[in-house]
Amino acid sequence: SQVDPFDLVIFGGTGDLAVRKLLPALYHRYADGQIQPGSRLIGVARDTLSQADYHTRVRAALAKAQGEDLPEDVLQGFLKLVSYHALDARKDDGWSQFAAAMQPDSDRVCVFYLATSPEIFIPICERLREHGLNHGKVRVVVEKPIGRDLKSAAAINDAVGRCFAEQQTFRIDHYLGKETVQNLVALRFGNALFEPLWNAGHIDHVQITVAETIGVEWRAGFYDGAGALRDMVQNHLLQLLCLVAMEPPASLAPDAIRDEKLKVLRALKPINESNAAQCSVRGQYRAGASNGGAVPGYLEEIARPESRTETFVALKAELGNWRWAGVPFYLRTGKRLPERVSEIVITFRAIPHSIFGEHAGPISPNKLVLRLQPDEGVKLWLMNKYPGPGGLRLRRVALDMSFAEAFGVRNPDAYERLLMDVVRGNPTLFMRRDEVEAAWAWADPILQAWEASNEAPKSYTAGTWGPSAAVALIERDGRTWHEDA
Ligand code: BG6
Repeated sequence: SQVDPFDLVIFGGTGDLAVRKLLPALYHRYADGQIQPGSRLIGVARDTLSQADYHTRVRAALAKAQGEDLPEDVLQGFLKLVSYHALDARKDDGWSQFAAAMQPDSDRVCVFYLATSPEIFIPICERLREHGLNHGKVRVVVEKPIGRDLKSAAAINDAVGRCFAEQQTFRIDHYLGKETVQNLVALRFGNALFEPLWNAGHIDHVQITVAETIGVEWRAGFYDGAGALRDMVQNHLLQLLCLVAMEPPASLAPDAIRDEKLKVLRALKPINESNAAQCSVRGQYRAGASNGGAVPGYLEEIARPESRTETFVALKAELGNWRWAGVPFYLRTGKRLPERVSEIVITFRAIPHSIFGEHAGPISPNKLVLRLQPDEGVKLWLMNKYPGPGGLRLRRVALDMSFAEAFGVRNPDAYERLLMDVVRGNPTLFMRRDEVEAAWAWADPILQAWEASNEAPKSYTAGTWGPSAAVALIERDGRTWHEDA
């Protein structure tokens, strides 16, 4: 559905996020007819660039994101909406002109996307307020990381809150915009089949894996100050955990879902100095092979031999509530792992009694595998009779649903959905302040316990599934990490 013409300003308009994600997402929404002519998409950055220079960059970014499939007439139409404004967010100069160009009196929706480094979130918000660019139709999008611990996150939230009301503030976690993540809600609450089994009585444990093959790429400066717990677990993995574990919300109203997620975050049992050694593993990759070639270790890649930043985390999380008491949620994420895969695996309890003899073979518990990326789909592992004579022998076989085959449509990028939700003013898939802070309140003691232990992260060879301690973490409980076979 079309949205009324709007203005969207990207601070950090020449940066990586704008070029790789935001502009391609906006292009798709334009090409699909959702963004109308008359809308304005304005890149803002410090560099002095002409409009033509910026268009050249945008064209190159789209060509890269789109490959061959970039029709010139659509591109031309899109570029008519795109302009560039040079502005140094840290300095006073130029803000009056910028504000005048933004026409603060008009009553159209105006989105300011902070795709810059986090140090300048606050100065930008303050300038926007000083220049009257925080009126009712204005929305501000704040990218992660929101702080590096609870205290700094609260300071950012306070500062943003002095300039914009909570309903104007959209804290983005792009995992929530992924089609397959939203499908989790569809699957849980659009089917009667799962919910009666969705509790400690029937579920043995849950695994959430977000594995990447890439290293830290060009982001060494940022990444080394953050690490995998801050970069991935505090936000993306915990959001996935919330959607798996939350109580059924009464509706899809933004706060109905966010209230339920918040309760999950608050029910997480603490991991701190007393149990971090049993419940957490952090790793750092050393040289190895990835994506078919030799790759350097993390320390060589970032050229800081003393760094103790983790590029891998495995955790055993638990929720202290009735539904999930005693059900571990094993989380793991890392860079330079053997494959790019994100999945959630729900393992049900074993059958209470077997009527089959030994010759039937082992009976594996049922598993529901939600594959978020790549090859998005849902698999349900069931026991079946192996065909033919020779007695009742059992085999594990999966009911396997691939989204691409089932629906045959393009899976839009998460940012397409999320950007248009901001324009439409729908905050459902954005993190409320209290959620961000509850997630930090849980992450902080883990970081502190690691710091206090004075141990270096355990090393793992690039291209393997993390340090052996991560295998031990789950095997101690008599379980194994899921392998899709
Ligand atoms: C980002 C992290 O939030 O998510 C990156 O900062 C990570 O380190 C990325 O690579 C992963 O996102 P996706 O969509 O590729 O799974």
